[in-house]
Amino acid sequence: MSTVSKPRVFVLNGPNLNLLGQREPAAYGTQNYEDLVELVTRNANDLGINVDVKQTNHEGLLIDWIHEAKAAANGIILNPASLTHTSIGVRDAVLAANLPTIEVHISNVHAREEFRHHSFVSSVATTVIVGAGIFGYVLALQNLSHILNQGVAA
Ligand code: DQA
Repeated sequence: MSTVSKPRVFVLNGPNLNLLGQREPAAYGTQNYEDLVELVTRNANDLGINVDVKQTNHEGLLIDWIHEAKAAANGIILNPASLTHTSIGVRDAVLAANLPTIEVHISNVHAREEFRHHSFVSSVATTVIVGAGIFGYVLALQNLSHILNQGVAA
């Protein structure tokens, strides 16, 4: 019997993701933010992961949460949204947290405007998942589960 406690993962979402379902459905689908939270919570539960799912429209708060993860979480799933393409602060926070970090984008950013092709986060992320819709968060949970379990003896 394992005495190892459940891993904790922060799922952090940046600007405008609260408008999922209402905003550009061709790019982001018709499911809303509550649907995303439900999908993530249900799949995390199935994988034996505790999740904190949060969204903010403010860069500084997103950075504060990444700092908080360093002490409180075993990994991060991060969709920095527009801050992906602009924020060295978010990138530096990911480096400082030094945790397995899965960068997720709902849309295929590489098939969209050129300014979305560059991410300040990708080169410091463990894994990058783009274009899988909100199912990308499930893939990220599975990937993190695999990464975190690698450190646990069978
Ligand atoms: C996004 C892609 C970003 O380019 C955009 O600014 C977003 C959402 C995505 O999930 O596809 O807000 O991160």
